[in-house]
Amino acid sequence: MLKLTYISHSSFVLNDGKYTIAIDPFITGNPTATVKKEDIKPDFIVLTHAHGDHFGDAFSLAMDNNATIIAVNELANYMASKGLKAHNMHIGGSYKFPFGRLKFTIAHHGSANPEGMYMGEPAGVIINVGGKTIYHTGDTGLFLDMKLIGELDKIDIMMAPIGDNFTMGIDDAVKAVKFVDPTLAIPMHYNTFPVIQANPEEFKLKVENIGKKSIVMNYGETINFE
Ligand code: NI
Ligand code: MN
Repeated sequence: MLKLTYISHSSFVLNDGKYTIAIDPFITGNPTATVKKEDIKPDFIVLTHAHGDHFGDAFSLAMDNNATIIAVNELANYMASKGLKAHNMHIGGSYKFPFGRLKFTIAHHGSANPEGMYMGEPAGVIINVGGKTIYHTGDTGLFLDMKLIGELDKIDIMMAPIGDNFTMGIDDAVKAVKFVDPTLAIPMHYNTFPVIQANPEEFKLKVENIGKKSIVMNYGETINFE
């Protein structure tokens, strides 16, 4: 089983009944987050890149919960240098964690932390957990290799940014869904800030028009998968 909670922006929490995994936990300073930081007790924190709206509360959440940060080498090393537990990986590599296998993919974006320090390459992530295979693209533009990603792993749930400006907008994100061919597509990275306004219902409709399924998750909503 898998419990999938949407915090808002690109922030999700996964729970398989035993382990809690937070992806890009951005709560403090996130105008659309309704979940309290104290209510998330992650065992693992997956970071796609070091931008403030993804790195978010990783530091204090890891500290408070003795959680392990999973990130690409440069970002993981930085977290380890601050005294946190970190598992270093890199793009194209996978590793079997207690909850399941996790693999980093490419993402076309940047990754400096809020202080401007280079934190390695940005990434997307494929997570096998609770009987599902999840592809969280991270922040990225559209790229043709998404076809390969969908070919190598049968993706059950894909999270795709639709807010434009920094990432794919709706039409590119729909194309991304076509490339990856997931069972279910969930929009993310929209309406958090004025510059990334987008209508998730438009995305959902356009995904349905190519014969795929989409769910627009509410802030703080949890979906249970068998
Ligand atoms: Ni970013
Ligand atoms: Mn972002």
